[in-house]
Amino acid sequence: MTFRRALTLFMRRMVLSRLANWCPFVSMRLTIYRLMGMTIGRDVYIGFHVEFDTNFTELIRIGDGVTISHRCIIATHMATDANTRLRQLYPGRSAPVEIQDGAWICTGAVLLPGVTIGREALVAAGAVVTSDVAPRTLVAGVPARSIKSLDLSDAAVSAG
Ligand SMILES: CC(C)(COP(=O)(O)OP(=O)(O)OC[C@H]1O[C@@H](n2cnc3c(N)ncnc32)[C@H](O)[C@@H]1OP(=O)(O)O)[C@@H](O)C(=O)NCCC(=O)NCCS
Repeated sequence: MTFRRALTLFMRRMVLSRLANWCPFVSMRLTIYRLMGMTIGRDVYIGFHVEFDTNFTELIRIGDGVTISHRCIIATHMATDANTRLRQLYPGRSAPVEIQDGAWICTGAVLLPGVTIGREALVAAGAVVTSDVAPRTLVAGVPARSIKSLDLSDAAVSAG
């Protein structure tokens, strides 16, 4: 991809993400996020002021029935532009983030590049997720640690 094309794509995504933050209807927010390149399943809720990585938005995959509460951050790349020794130690990289069916990412949580949130997993408010979360597990804290397995066998699901 040429520099000009990459810049245009980035600017487009920046504008669209600001638009989504001010959009009052969830269905319209989802449409905007899809236009930004994200893969989003059915029956998904995304709250206000969620920051999706505008550099590699296409690496974000969200399954069916997922909730992402307000002010979460989903990052798909890391990089420092400064030519420092830190850049040698931590070279830039990008990696997908996948949120599987039925998972709930609570308000203010941060998902780092490369993580997968398993089916029906629950990421508590303010957690920073640095590694994969197993299905039906509650994680919390910085860095996020497993708090407990969730027994959902008796939980009722209303037909949608
Ligand atoms: C994840 C959440 C739903 C769990 O609720 P809960 O009723 O505390 O759940 P549990 O009782 O099963 O909690 C289990 C343990 O995790 C701890 N815990 C819960 N949330 C935590 C958090 N954000 N950070 C650290 N620990 C947390 C609890 O204190 C409890 O610890 P304990 O066993 O030592 O008492 C809730 O804490 C949360 O994050 N809610 C945010 C809701 C939200 O995003 N709202 C925005 C609008 S949708």
